[in-house]
Amino acid sequence: MKIYRANIIYAPTPDKLEIIPHGYIAVRSSGIIQGIYKEKPEQTDWRQVVDFGDKLLIPAFNDLHVHAPQYRNMGLALDLELLPWLNTYTFPEEAKYANPEYAQKMYRRFVHELWMQGTMRSAVFGTMHSESTRILADLFVQAGMGSYVGLVGMNRNSPDNLQNTTEYVLEGLEMLRNHLDKHGNNGLVKPIITPRFIPSCTPEMLKALGDYAAKTGLPVQSHLSENRSEIAWVAELEPESTCYGDAYNRYGLFGQTPTLMAHCCYTDGEELELMKRNGVYVVHCPMSNSNLSSGIAPIRKFLEQGIKVTLGTDISAGHNLSMLRAMQYAIQVSKLRYAESRGATRFLSLSEVLYLATKAGGEFFGKVGSFEQGYEFDALVIDDTYLNAFDYTLEQRLERYIYLGDDRDIKRRFCRGVELTEPVW
Ligand code: GUN
Ligand code: FE
Repeated sequence: MKIYRANIIYAPTPDKLEIIPHGYIAVRSSGIIQGIYKEKPEQTDWRQVVDFGDKLLIPAFNDLHVHAPQYRNMGLALDLELLPWLNTYTFPEEAKYANPEYAQKMYRRFVHELWMQGTMRSAVFGTMHSESTRILADLFVQAGMGSYVGLVGMNRNSPDNLQNTTEYVLEGLEMLRNHLDKHGNNGLVKPIITPRFIPSCTPEMLKALGDYAAKTGLPVQSHLSENRSEIAWVAELEPESTCYGDAYNRYGLFGQTPTLMAHCCYTDGEELELMKRNGVYVVHCPMSNSNLSSGIAPIRKFLEQGIKVTLGTDISAGHNLSMLRAMQYAIQVSKLRYAESRGATRFLSLSEVLYLATKAGGEFFGKVGSFEQGYEFDALVIDDTYLNAFDYTLEQRLERYIYLGDDRDIKRRFCRGVELTEPVW
């Protein structure tokens, strides 16, 4: 048993921050939280206590939508909308991952920066190349971080050097699954079925991936209703579907197993009902939706309807790998929607965005993202001394950390109870 003492802040529900000044968290050797206490638990030997003094202790971040092979383009090339952006900037960069040496070099940097940013769990797109994607998964294992790693399926409407086949994807997924069953760090790193989006995959590939989900129970991630031109294109490609979401649903890729759908800027009506009915997760990517001029996702509506909402950076359409920036953008774009609706749509609160960045996304990985009994201890120790010059309250310190802080303030990182030191490779 380990006991940590610090200023504890977490969001067990969207509407409330739990704040325990100089509180205690007891963590079993399995990495599971035994309890959380205002006072030192009885029979505690002081030698068991690791005291973080006046620092903040918050749950580590979970990024539910991010493209590892777009790392080189982060902060670049944001002057186009989605479809020309993919063709002009993104596909040429992803094609380089045919070379495993390039993948190794770039993915090391990517995983290292995720570690720096305090993102201990992620749902990641690799590329269409199975060897490079296995390299990415192995780097997560080496770093001790949790991840769902996706070998991307794409066999139409992309350059010749960036298309695979149904057979190749099924074989690659099976290899990845067997590999991670053995070497996935006790289930911390797992595969996820990843059709890029409807325009990139033939009906034959979509059906095969849906069948594979049914057979293996593996989760699914993809993109949905991000941009108006994309939605119009999907309607042409899948004329029998009643909406974009229905196109995935017909192939068994829409909540038949746990499913993440990034963006959902224009999800409404039947698509919204289908997401609710099937328990499909929305991954809100506000940086990306701003940068590619995609739109503002109706997050308040999703929350009111009881749809599961999580948060992602979506680099390199998103320009920053920090979940602090994702939280900040989530609040800010929700205020633009508030203004457009003349105040009818309430904007997101601080506790709501902390909840989205921690417990909401953590649910995809099990009992992760909160400091409650039975949860895995994923945590960050934050030194915000320089931000706390005027004796702020703990809630104000959290707010200033979200708006003004960065990775340099993160002093310690824990994933499933294990302290993760900087990956060296
Ligand atoms: N839709 C299909 N591929 C992508 C991608 O790489 N990024 C984003 N933002 N949307 C996509
Ligand atoms: Fe994306």
